Amino acid sequence: MASYLVTGGCGFIGSHLTAALLAAGHAVRVLDDLSSGHLANLAPGAELIQADCADRAALRDAMAGVDGCFHLAAIASVERGRRDWAGTHRVNLSATVAVLEAAVAEGSARGGPEAVPVVYASSAAVYGEPASLPLTESAATKPLSAYGADKLGCELHARVGGVVHGLPTTGLRFFNVFGPRQDPSSPYSGVISIFCEKLVRGEPVTIFGDGGQTRDFIFVADIVAGLIAALRHASPAGPVFNLCTGRPVSVRDLAEAIAGLCGTRLELRHAPARSGEIRHSLGDPAASRAALGLGVPVALEDGLRQTIDWLRAGRPGLR
Ligand SMILES: NC(=O)c1ccc[n+]([C@@H]2O[C@H](COP(=O)([O-])OP(=O)(O)OC[C@H]3O[C@@H](n4cnc5c(N)ncnc54)[C@H](O)[C@@H]3O)[C@@H](O)[C@H]2O)c1
Repeated sequence: MASYLVTGGCGFIGSHLTAALLAAGHAVRVLDDLSSGHLANLAPGAELIQADCADRAALRDAMAGVDGCFHLAAIASVERGRRDWAGTHRVNLSATVAVLEAAVAEGSARGGPEAVPVVYASSAAVYGEPASLPLTESAATKPLSAYGADKLGCELHARVGGVVHGLPTTGLRFFNVFGPRQDPSSPYSGVISIFCEKLVRGEPVTIFGDGGQTRDFIFVADIVAGLIAALRHASPAGPVFNLCTGRPVSVRDLAEAIAGLCGTRLELRHAPARSGEIRHSLGDPAASRAALGLGVPVALEDGLRQTIDWLRAGRPGLR
């Protein structure tokens, strides 16, 4: 049994990770300020420190005695970064530096050279407009948003942590994650949770542009498997992997699939394409599958079914 810190453990992905770690018999401490997460998401048995993850004193307490840290806390929104550049930067990059620093300090406090290994959430947003698809980890990184730039900054600081302080890290570039507990009422929510909620209620769904834009949707259970496997691979100036499926799905096909699973007639509304939106995003999962030993990802329909079932059950875990 080990003991882990999960920042953002009351959020969508962090709550699934926390539950999985507890189910495997580990102890979990969550650091979350509940800004977008929910107390009801906190897995039973986890300890909660309700604090800002840029708060260095709170981080010192949170890091004490843990065997590893999963850093997921962030303002997970491209749109918020547009409206509040400096504010999101403080959380999305400065707080990450504080987490990395706390991991190094905890190693020193134990009197050994070993810092606490950190696995952190990066994003496909680091790539920006792709020159070619699928995106491998060696593709150029030219973020088009403050959010993407901060995630790239996390990768660079994690590397510096390894070079300067010997801090072991693994970075994971999540593509479009979906599943139960992704808040459909959040203005920053993913397209799947929004479509599922509308179609469960039998309401029309809005498509921006022609619906031919494609994304690489990955179910949250596959992200959790990747996070847990990544801890074993943390090393100084350590690896950065895509977490994706490698299967492109258009927004229109997605709406049709969800309507079919809900048994609802699909009523589409069209809105103008959103400016600056990338037309196609697709990751290459080969490197993460080989290095982390990940299995075949959950089929899109299975993940959609679980998401729809969660909504029909009254969204347990969300207010
Ligand atoms: N959901 C996706 O599709 C996706 C894609 C790429 C990357 N990511 C990354 O994965 C991570 C988790 O995302 P999510 O979808 O679960 O988002 P989420 O908003 O559901 O979870 C984020 C959690 O962090 C907490 N938090 C935010 N600011 C904080 C702060 N200053 N101090 C302490 N806690 C704070 C929130 O309360 C919330 O519980 C984020 O780093 C996000 O950028 C998500």
